[in-house]
Amino acid sequence: MAPVVNGKFIFAKPLQVGELAELGKTAVYDSSETINLDTVALNGSFLAKTLVLAIDPYMRGKFRDPAIKSYTPSFDLGQPISGFGVAVVLRSESDAFKPGDHVYSNTVSYAHYWVPKDTSPFTIIKNEIGLPWSTYIGVLGMPGQTAYVGWKEFSKAKKGETVFVTAAAGGVGSIVLQLAKRDGCRVIASAGTDDKVAWLRALGADVAFNYKTEDTRAVLQREGPIDIFWDNVGGETLDIGFEFARNRARFIECGMSSYKGPNPYRLKNQFFIVGKELSVNGFIVLNWLWKYGTSFYDEFPRLVKSGEIKHEEDFTYGLEKVGEAMQEVLVHGTNRAKKIIVVASN
Ligand SMILES: NC(=O)c1ccc[n+]([C@@H]2O[C@H](COP(=O)([O-])OP(=O)(O)OC[C@H]3O[C@@H](n4cnc5c(N)ncnc54)[C@H](OP(=O)(O)O)[C@@H]3O)[C@@H](O)[C@H]2O)c1
Repeated sequence: MAPVVNGKFIFAKPLQVGELAELGKTAVYDSSETINLDTVALNGSFLAKTLVLAIDPYMRGKFRDPAIKSYTPSFDLGQPISGFGVAVVLRSESDAFKPGDHVYSNTVSYAHYWVPKDTSPFTIIKNEIGLPWSTYIGVLGMPGQTAYVGWKEFSKAKKGETVFVTAAAGGVGSIVLQLAKRDGCRVIASAGTDDKVAWLRALGADVAFNYKTEDTRAVLQREGPIDIFWDNVGGETLDIGFEFARNRARFIECGMSSYKGPNPYRLKNQFFIVGKELSVNGFIVLNWLWKYGTSFYDEFPRLVKSGEIKHEEDFTYGLEKVGEAMQEVLVHGTNRAKKIIVVASN
């Protein structure tokens, strides 16, 4: 077969602290190279074709100068970026993977075709219950796991307690909302558009509001106090949460999506942590899968298949559109639900 164009999404320019990803500058789509799928060297690995890719908020931090250390390595300058995705194996020299296998990991290359140097992070998805591949990087992937791990480990939820979830329409928040309802809690959920708020109501939120048009402080004053705060955004909303927390409330610090630019909001109400004896727990999902990975995969695929756990995905079609999709998730927050790039259908 003749060589085919192999488009890639390349990390081009590191971001300084507080700088926002710029379309066409931070990372660029490059279609200048071709690949021969029949002859490309595998060196004991496999040749993969990308099917679906996730755009996740944590990726923002990976566009940094590689010299700056963080909890996750930076992307490699001049190389395709990588993240959670599902690919199909086209050829293989590895005993562990065979052509036709669908593989999943957080090291999938944002390229049409690629040969991983290290095959150890990849697992084969059996998909015996026949869910779309995108499910495995959304509700059954890292976002779903994050909701499950954080809720099981830190919520200490009791029936009738009041929970506040921010960025509640997203891949993580929408699952937290449903886990809280399944545990008999009363849920207050916020999001940034009226469409998202309608989705929160459909998921069973007892109180759902658009924090851009309704005052969070007024809602929590009316509907609180809160026993559990699932925090996806940090900043001023977290500060308001401290104010309307019940004594001994649990704060689950999952993300800081409201962080934007070089002058982030500075907390003013942290003295409530002492006065109200609040528990504030941050966590990184990957550090907890040893404890919850098995039970998650025992429970969740069935709940998703049966519709007992609902989820939505916001698709962008084409690898060349990764930049636009990243702007939606990392800069503007306009993604409607879990953002997925569909690169190829099979
Ligand atoms: N701790 C962990 O291990 C872990 C793992 C996965 C994810 N997370 C964190 O969990 C949070 C939710 O993740 P997700 O995948 O479910 O994302 P997501 O909610 O699908 O997307 C991010 C959402 O954050 C909201 N947002 C608020 N302020 C924003 C701003 N200034 N810029 C951009 N977005 C803003 C937007 O929704 P609104 O319309 O509601 O504003 C946006 O849609 C993120 O903070 C992420 O970093 C943590």
